[in-house]
Amino acid sequence: MAAGFQYRLRRGGQPTSVEAWRQAARRALPGMVWAYLDGHADDGVTARANRDAFARWRLRQRVLTGHAAPDLRTTVAGQALSMPLALAPTGLTGLSHWSGDVACARAAEAAGTRLVLSTASSYTLEEVSAAAREPHWFQLYPFGDRAFVSAMLERARQGGYGALFVTVDVPVRGNREAEAVHGMTVPPTLTPASVFDAALHPAWWWNLLRHRRLAAANYVSSGLRGARAAVQSVRAQERFMQADLNWDDLAWMRDQWRGPLYIKGLTDPDDAQRAVDGIGVDGLVVSNHGGRQLDNMLATADALPAIAERVGDRCEVLLDGGIRRGTDVVKALCLGARGVFIGRPYVYGLAADGEVGVRSVLALLRAEIERALVLMGCPGVSQLDRSWLLPSTTGSDSP
Ligand code: FNR
Repeated sequence: MAAGFQYRLRRGGQPTSVEAWRQAARRALPGMVWAYLDGHADDGVTARANRDAFARWRLRQRVLTGHAAPDLRTTVAGQALSMPLALAPTGLTGLSHWSGDVACARAAEAAGTRLVLSTASSYTLEEVSAAAREPHWFQLYPFGDRAFVSAMLERARQGGYGALFVTVDVPVRGNREAEAVHGMTVPPTLTPASVFDAALHPAWWWNLLRHRRLAAANYVSSGLRGARAAVQSVRAQERFMQADLNWDDLAWMRDQWRGPLYIKGLTDPDDAQRAVDGIGVDGLVVSNHGGRQLDNMLATADALPAIAERVGDRCEVLLDGGIRRGTDVVKALCLGARGVFIGRPYVYGLAADGEVGVRSVLALLRAEIERALVLMGCPGVSQLDRSWLLPSTTGSDSP
């Protein structure tokens, strides 16, 4: 990263919250990449609702409990994690920072947690597993081409990926208007405004041209980089994406993958029950894709309790969407999640300061979870349940 940018980041001091990392990322990125990273579907109703749903709960505080060092450890997919928080799959991380998924995997394992590598990652499955010390997890878009899916699963097996997360909320891509407005198309749409904006981010352009991590690397010809790779990967994705997939396709995937299997992108308890009873999944991620797919759908923290109640005793229930503070993590666990994922927050860190930025975001969220538990008087995350939550009593704020 160019010295100039580092200087700018340091001059403002190390960001001390996810929101401060968001501002640093905003400064580091051209508008078109920012539109992709921070954007949402339609009017952003669901993206905002994900945040608001956490704000409607209050934490109970028990004083003088003597719990000074709460236990944050948990297990997910049979792997021990140092805290109940991991990195959600995010595509095209190489646009935010050239070091992309490799930096994220390294930062996750340094923090004692895991990355779910996206199907649309900027580094291949093989590059990430070669650079990592721990087995990470792999996210699959359930494309219609079974030969392609089988090949991806074989690559994940060979790479030692310890669990599979099948994302089911993208039968078609959500309507991300900000991307179109800012020319985030393939190839990019250049307007006088986007050219001017690009001129304001020379460090980003320099790194992009040097490393050319523009494409979803898993679907391009080996070694191909740059604009041609980006075009090839988008065409491949359009060819593979199939809107009419159904539960039989998921059952087929269950047969293909012997390790832990999770479905990501459910908010309905009936779907959750079908996934557990009909498919035999090991876990679920209650997720609405961070409000990037169907707008006006339920916030994940609002959807979680009914799902945890229905299937929480038979599979691992996880959540993502809107986690920006340690107290959000605590509330999600109280509402029935075993653990949570963050998406945008760690990419803010990546965009602003590469691997160091991702590590910093993880460290600050860990510190926030720990501090919240000490202040609540709670001995550890395994003790969190509904008894630690109180509804907000301030009118429109109440759940
Ligand atoms: C995503 N998400 C996502 N999910 C997935 O299953 N496969 C993917 O390739 C991507 N790509 C992606 C890119 C970017 C830039 C973002 C922000 C998100 C969704 C992601 O896994 C997660 O569900 C949300 O990001 C969670 O919401 P928050 O934490 O961003 O509020």
